[in-house]
Amino acid sequence: MKSQFLSTKPLPISFCLILFLLPLITSVSGDENEHYKICGNLFNCGNITGIDYPFWGNNRPLECGYPGLKLECEKDTTIIETKTLKYRVLDINQDTQVLRITRMDLSSNICQSKFVNTTLDSELFEYASAYTNLTILYGCSPVILPVPNQFDCPVKGTIDRIGYVVVGTQIPGMCHASIVVPVTYKNFGSFQDVSKLLDYVGEGFEVQCKVDISACHACKNSRGRCGYDFASNQFTCLCPNQSPGSTICNSSRSSAGITTQQSPAGMGSSESSGSGMFVLPLH
Ligand SMILES: *[C@@H]1O[C@H](CO)[C@@H](O)[C@H](O)[C@H]1NC(C)=O
Ligand SMILES: *[C@@H]1O[C@H](CO)[C@@H](O)[C@H](O)[C@H]1NC(C)=O
Ligand SMILES: *[C@@H]1O[C@H](CO)[C@@H](O)[C@H](O)[C@H]1NC(C)=O
Ligand SMILES: *[C@@H]1O[C@H](CO)[C@@H](O)[C@H](O)[C@H]1NC(C)=O
Repeated sequence: MKSQFLSTKPLPISFCLILFLLPLITSVSGDENEHYKICGNLFNCGNITGIDYPFWGNNRPLECGYPGLKLECEKDTTIIETKTLKYRVLDINQDTQVLRITRMDLSSNICQSKFVNTTLDSELFEYASAYTNLTILYGCSPVILPVPNQFDCPVKGTIDRIGYVVVGTQIPGMCHASIVVPVTYKNFGSFQDVSKLLDYVGEGFEVQCKVDISACHACKNSRGRCGYDFASNQFTCLCPNQSPGSTICNSSRSSAGITTQQSPAGMGSSESSGSGMFVLPLH
């Protein structure tokens, strides 16, 4: 009686220990999978939907994308900021990684309080298609008249308010400031209609994202999700049941037998995985 009582006593203790440890164990593996789970969120904002690596932002934390490729969503408008300028994103082609963007500071008013040239972050972007540079000149003195299609803007630091637009890249010269703005290629000749300037600017221009996503494709093909590891400053493949640090996920098939992966060409890998799925329950 007594020994039986003693022997049963440790059982509830170990049982309690297991109960206590179980959530700890699952939460540890849960942490490892947290990035996998959260990077399954795609970026959606207005007309821009289903955006994945290398972009992050909104419900995709920075571990889910490449540094500098943060998208913001404001009232159904997708915004990317690069080189101190905010651009509205009109379109993202996920297959080609081409974005169509337009400067937000020129979305509704030609007058500017701050003059910034359009400069791409050459680490991240390059022009994707033919474009035309327009130079908008501000604060020009009336001496340089006559110029067709002037506009009028107050400019801090000068009493001269005349502005105009020329095709190509131009220094301010006798004007207070000039900014260069790319627009989709048009054979302008000379710039004739300043009232259409904001329309041209609003159409945006195409940039190619230079971040290599081939590793991400391989990762996705192994059922992983793409992420970025800030410890090693490189791409990482996030996998459902695997600690981070790999470039692709180990599938359940390869952990069942490496030989299936090394089987000669001719045997489709999907075929062998299919037969493996049928064989396993029989064992
Ligand atoms: C979404 O696309 C439609 C059709 O292209 C366009 O009319 C609309 O302005 C777009 N909305 C936003 C928020 O970009
Ligand atoms: C546009 O202007 C930038 C400088 O602002 C220059 O680097 C670029 O080559 C120009 N592109 C074209 C097509 O003229
Ligand atoms: C923009 O670029 C042009 C041509 O390189 C330059 O002359 C001008 O000063 C620049 N404007 C600003 C605001 O930096
Ligand atoms: C993936 O599988 C390979 C070979 O089966 C093994 O050497 C490696 O440690 C595995 N990696 C992880 C992160 O499980």
